[in-house]
Amino acid sequence: MKNFQLPLHKSEIPTPALLIDFDLFNQNLAEMARFFKDRSAKLRPHFKTHKCPIIAKKQVEAGAIGITCAKLGEAEVLVEAGITSILIANQIVDPLKIRRLAELAPETELIVAVDNPHNIAMLSAMAVEAGSLIYILVEVDVGLHRCGVQPGQAALDLARYIRTQPGLEFAGVLGYEGHTVFVLDAEERKKQADQAMLELTSTAQLIRQAGIPVRIVSSGGTGTYNFSGVYPGVTEIEAGSYVFMDTKYRAQNLPFQCALTLLSTVISVPSPEKAILDTGMKAITIENGLPEVVSPGGVHLEKLHEEHGIVSVDPALIQLKIGDRVEMIPSHICTTVNLHDHYYVMEGEWVKEIWPISARGKFQ
Ligand SMILES: Cc1ncc(COP(=O)(O)O)c(C=O)c1O
Repeated sequence: MKNFQLPLHKSEIPTPALLIDFDLFNQNLAEMARFFKDRSAKLRPHFKTHKCPIIAKKQVEAGAIGITCAKLGEAEVLVEAGITSILIANQIVDPLKIRRLAELAPETELIVAVDNPHNIAMLSAMAVEAGSLIYILVEVDVGLHRCGVQPGQAALDLARYIRTQPGLEFAGVLGYEGHTVFVLDAEERKKQADQAMLELTSTAQLIRQAGIPVRIVSSGGTGTYNFSGVYPGVTEIEAGSYVFMDTKYRAQNLPFQCALTLLSTVISVPSPEKAILDTGMKAITIENGLPEVVSPGGVHLEKLHEEHGIVSVDPALIQLKIGDRVEMIPSHICTTVNLHDHYYVMEGEWVKEIWPISARGKFQ
C-alpha cells in the first residue's frame, strides 16, 4: 500500500479504517475448522464476507474444500489468487458474463447455480465454444424465496436437462436457508433449518433415485452451520460471516468473536456531550442498525451522515478532543467490507500486515 511503511502504530492509521484483530480472527478460523474436521460435510466458506484472497487462502489452508462466492467478478479474483475449486452460489445469465465464466480457467473447478433451462442452454453453448467443463448445481428454494426452483420434481427435471447438455456436468443441488440464519432462538432456528434441509436432501434423494449421481448438497450460513452442517446428506456449508462476526450475529452467542472493528477519528467537538467523527455511511453500513462503539467507554453513536458520525459523550466518563480515536463494531460486516480497500491486521497496538480487499466492488 502506498505511503505506509510498517511498523505502523494504531494511532498512525489513516481513518476510517478496518482493523482485524489477528488473534480473534485466527480463533474464529480455528473454531470453524475444528467443527468440520471430522464431519462428512465440509466447509466451503463464503468470500462475500471478506473479499480478500489472503483470507480465502488461509481458510483453505485450515481445511476448507474451496470457496463460495456470489459474483463472477469475485470468482475471477479467486482464480487469480490460485483457488482451485470455486462455487458461484448464484445465477450467471448475461451472455457476456457466461462467456467470461466459460473462458475463466479450464484448470479450476468452477461450479455455478442455475434455476432455468434457458440459462442452462446458454451455459452449455459457451462451455462448448470455450472447450471447458462447467459444473452445475440446481438451486432449490428451501424457503428463502429468492432464486431457485421448488424442491422435488422441478429440480429433477432441471437435473435431467443438464445431463443432456454438452460442456456441463450436473454436480448436485444448492439451497440456502437464509430465512432461518438470524432466528434468535437457537431451538427455533434449528427447527426451521432442519425443515429446509429436509426439503433439500429429499430433492437430492429424488434425483439419485432417478439414477443421477448427486455429489454436492450445499447450504448453510453462520447462524446454521452447526445444524445444516450435521444434517444427514448435506455435503458442504457456505458460511462466511464467522471470520469477523458483527453485532447482528453476535446476538446469537455463537462460538465466534467480533474480530473486525472500524477505527475513526474525532474531527470536531461542538460540546462536552457531543463529538463528530470522520466516519459516515460511506465507511460503515447501517441496514442492520447503527454500529456499536467499543472504545472508548462513555461514547455512543447517534447518527451517521455520508461522511460524518455524530456521537453522544458522557462527560463524567470521558472528554473527547479532536484527533482522538473511536472504535466500533459494524452491524453488518459483509456490506461494510465492500466499502474499503484494505484491512489493517492488528497485533495489539501495532499493524502487523495490510491485506488488500481485492474483490471490493467486484459485483459484476
Ligand atoms: C448463498 C449464500 N450462502 C451462504 C450465506 C451465508 O453467509 P453468512 O455466513 O453471512 O450467514 C449467504 C449469505 O448471504 C448466502 O447468500
